Amino acid sequence: MPSSSICYLNGDYLPLGQAKVSVLDRGFIFGDGVYEVIPVYGDHLFRLQQHLQRLNNSLDAIKLANPLSDEQWHDMLQMLVKKNQDQHNPDKSVYLQLTRGVAKRDHGFPKNTPVTIFAMSNPLLATDMEKMQAGVAAITLDDIRWRYCHIKTIALLPNILLKQQAIEKHASEAILVREGQVTEGSASNLFIVRNGVIKTPAKSERLLPGVTRDLIVELAQNNGMICEETTISETELHAADEIWLSSSTREILPITRLDEKTIGTGTAGPLWQKMIKIYQSYKQKLRAGAETGSV
Ligand code: PDD
Repeated sequence: MPSSSICYLNGDYLPLGQAKVSVLDRGFIFGDGVYEVIPVYGDHLFRLQQHLQRLNNSLDAIKLANPLSDEQWHDMLQMLVKKNQDQHNPDKSVYLQLTRGVAKRDHGFPKNTPVTIFAMSNPLLATDMEKMQAGVAAITLDDIRWRYCHIKTIALLPNILLKQQAIEKHASEAILVREGQVTEGSASNLFIVRNGVIKTPAKSERLLPGVTRDLIVELAQNNGMICEETTISETELHAADEIWLSSSTREILPITRLDEKTIGTGTAGPLWQKMIKIYQSYKQKLRAGAETGSV
């Protein structure tokens, strides 16, 4: 990403390479903050309302007051999108993060310290349908993370260590298992298909309530597909006809190899084919200007 792209820091818009925060920022010292990643299609922020709701939930969970109203977030992010317009690559994702601000290093919360607000725009690569058809590999790993995985915290060290293990095994993602139950990917949510039924782990403190996940559940229900939010055992995962991962940046990704064994026929399955069409046409409507979750 060019360091000349424009970011937002504490009220100012400036080139990314010039944005600086103090080494005493609690994000730097403690990982004391939360974040969101929001796709932008054709200058429209995708499911903004849902992302802002989850941001509020994360902030409540770490006892940090939201300094901006939904409208102020909307205006700031829309301005950031405008400042980073690129005709050749209209799709992007915006990353925003809030930390508990700059203060003397002390574990207890500082008093009357302004939060640090940062946001940047990154290009979002166009979905390569041909590559998607082939699917990608994943491995299963023990979910070593803490007990509050529903909070979108910037403290991602366990996720990073898990993802790196996947990369070193030439896999795209680590699928995490806690006490015999599948939770999610290291940076994505998980779906399986078995005998024509789509399943995804029910929401709990063990996983991030993904905005893409919720949209897939909604689209399945609106299009006559059976979709259950339930528990999924590691055994069920290995016996699945199809496995998908979902996230704001990778959309719906078919997994065709798990722990070096083929899933289904070894290419993206029929229910993924159906769902990705529905998902892409939903995105197209947004590009054309329809309201799909803006404030
Ligand atoms: N991560 N679970 C985890 C642990 C994640 O980090 C993510 C996304 C998801 C999917 O959530 P959503 O559909 O709202 O993007 C699930 C983002 C993309 C990231 O960290 O870059």
